[in-house]
Amino acid sequence: MGASKLEMEPFHRGAEANLFLSTIDSWKVVVKQRISKAYRNASLDDKIRRERTLSEVSTMHDAKAAGVKAPSITGVEAETDTFSMTFVDGTIARDCLDGMSPREATTLFEKLGAMIGLLHSGGIVHGDLTTSNIMVTLERDPFLVDFGMARRSSDPEDRGVDLHLLQLSIVTSHLKDASPLVKALATGYSKTAGRAIHESSWAKAREISRRGRYFAIR
Ligand SMILES: Nc1ncnc2c1ncn2[C@@H]1O[C@H](COP(=O)(O)OP(=O)(O)O)[C@@H](O)[C@H]1O
Ligand SMILES: [Mg+2]
Repeated sequence: MGASKLEMEPFHRGAEANLFLSTIDSWKVVVKQRISKAYRNASLDDKIRRERTLSEVSTMHDAKAAGVKAPSITGVEAETDTFSMTFVDGTIARDCLDGMSPREATTLFEKLGAMIGLLHSGGIVHGDLTTSNIMVTLERDPFLVDFGMARRSSDPEDRGVDLHLLQLSIVTSHLKDASPLVKALATGYSKTAGRAIHESSWAKAREISRRGRYFAIR
């Protein structure tokens, strides 16, 4: 990034962005660059990429300020839709959840619930909360990544979408029994979100999953 080029090693190729591994002094960093979408009008595409990059950087930073474990932003280059962040040494939950013991998994989900409660009570929703965007460190601490769809919101509906999406991703991508995990998630959430947010968010999450079921059988 910037005037002096960093050595960058390709790390992950996604639909929206390419990620590279690099270093800044002794820090391992991940560089994320949003790529253009050929099907979008060019100037609209530029505008969307710029907005998403800046919004990802600021919501990730705010999430950390709210006490959430997430990468630290180490650099931003708006002109190239690129930012860098500290490397999280871990595995995405999608790849390690099924190998965890039931006890490890519920402990993880209680921590995760507490973290999402902090995020929500801090006025932020993640917007893409699946087990692919949750990393688990060797110490079994959850980290949230990919704030590309995150935004500031205090709407119970948006918070409910986060909780619903996460439940859905446990059910659809994992062999583990979802109900103890969801229970642990709610226990953690109630500890940090406060009673009012806890009740309204979970009520919305239940409503959304009922709506989903209704549409599914039509
Ligand atoms: N800070 C980070 N440290 C380590 N791995 C990361 C970091 N950020 C992202 N990743 C890895 O790269 C993958 C893609 O990053 P993500 O931000 O989710 O991009 P995408 O928009 O393509 O989903 C993640 O699922 C995770 O495996
Ligand atoms: Mg992702």
